[in-house]
Amino acid sequence: MKRTLLALSLALASTTAAAEGAFDTAQDAIDYRQAAFGLIKENFSDMWAMMKKKKPMDEKAFAQRAQHLALLSQIPFTGFKVDGSDKGDTSALPAIWQEWDEFEAKAGAFQMATERLAAVADSGNADDIKKAFGAVGKTCKGCHDDFKAE
Ligand code: HEC
Repeated sequence: MKRTLLALSLALASTTAAAEGAFDTAQDAIDYRQAAFGLIKENFSDMWAMMKKKKPMDEKAFAQRAQHLALLSQIPFTGFKVDGSDKGDTSALPAIWQEWDEFEAKAGAFQMATERLAAVADSGNADDIKKAFGAVGKTCKGCHDDFKAE
């Protein structure tokens, strides 16, 4: 009887873990969010190069990057909702879990800024794009300053 209960509670525990995003280990969750941020950076850097005239502006490519960035901005944050993912090979600061509401607010601001950029990149007004791009950059820095180790 005891064994059955143990087996049942183990099964339930793993169901809960799966519901948190199907990560087998906390390090998997860390790898996942870091990979997402890597793709975010890839897209952001290419747009940055176009904005700073380090490479020719290609409006279509820029708009597609902006779309992808808005989608990607949704991805990393499940990776922070996993117990134990504050430790391991991570530059996430403990402040994230101590000030979770603040962290979520910054994640939300980032997602909204990328939505806005994707919308104006479609319209093609250079001034609006410049402003919206700058606003996204501020949300990266605004979060990293408080929640990411160097
Ligand atoms: C709401 C907070 C938040 C926002 C917004 C945010 N980041 Fe991060 N970022 C983090 C945290 C926390 C980590 C550390 C993740 C870890 O190591 O577990 C990180 C890690 C990274 C990394 C390192 C990934 C790796 O391979 O270890 C890059 C690159 C990065 N962010 C780029 C960006 C860019 C570019 C933006 C904006 C376009 C951005 N981030 C927006 C919180 C944020």
